[in-house]
Amino acid sequence: MSMARSLAVAKTGGDEDSWEQFLFWMMESIRCPGRWALMRRIRDWDAQLFQHSLRVAAYSRIVGREVFGFDQDREQQLVLGAFFHDTGKVGWPNRLKAVAVLSEQDLRFIRCHPDTGADLVQEFWPDAPATVLEIIRNHHERPDGSGYPNGTTVQEPMALIVGAADMFAAMTEPRDYRRFAFMSDKAAEELRTYGYPEEIVTSLVRQQNE
Ligand SMILES: [Fe+2]
Ligand SMILES: [Fe+2]
Repeated sequence: MSMARSLAVAKTGGDEDSWEQFLFWMMESIRCPGRWALMRRIRDWDAQLFQHSLRVAAYSRIVGREVFGFDQDREQQLVLGAFFHDTGKVGWPNRLKAVAVLSEQDLRFIRCHPDTGADLVQEFWPDAPATVLEIIRNHHERPDGSGYPNGTTVQEPMALIVGAADMFAAMTEPRDYRRFAFMSDKAAEELRTYGYPEEIVTSLVRQQNE
């Protein structure tokens, strides 16, 4: 799939101008050797993961701006952390994409991907900001402490935003292991059960429904 086609498929809503502006800004932010090589790894390994990563980055950017009023520096770190959040999935066995019920062994393997992703990003991008690496390591931690790998009750805004945007995107996207994607209201209900702040949930629903 071409880059342009992948980007078009990943479009989540909003007017054409703002999406194009986002993509332009995104490409400018990763236009340096290490980050570009990582982006290509994600895209070449799985177009669906590339599209998911773009959606999570786009959702996160708007939540950071609307709910937390992030300045440009914080916004860029947030979006880069969001875009690279699932780098640790590159190289996963293909069967894991389609399995609805996972074995204990599969779960142990899957629960490593936040840390392996952060390590891989640091390898390709040695001066990556600590914030970006923390986002990647914490994107599956939940406000109620039910997440992984450490089960901490995450409250840091960037990790909250990317964790919520990732869950919301994953639930509303088509996946090989289930027949139907969730509607945005159902996905929002799920996010509330994990303790995500209402302002974040509302922003995600609004973006999806635009
Ligand atoms: Fe993940
Ligand atoms: Fe994800």
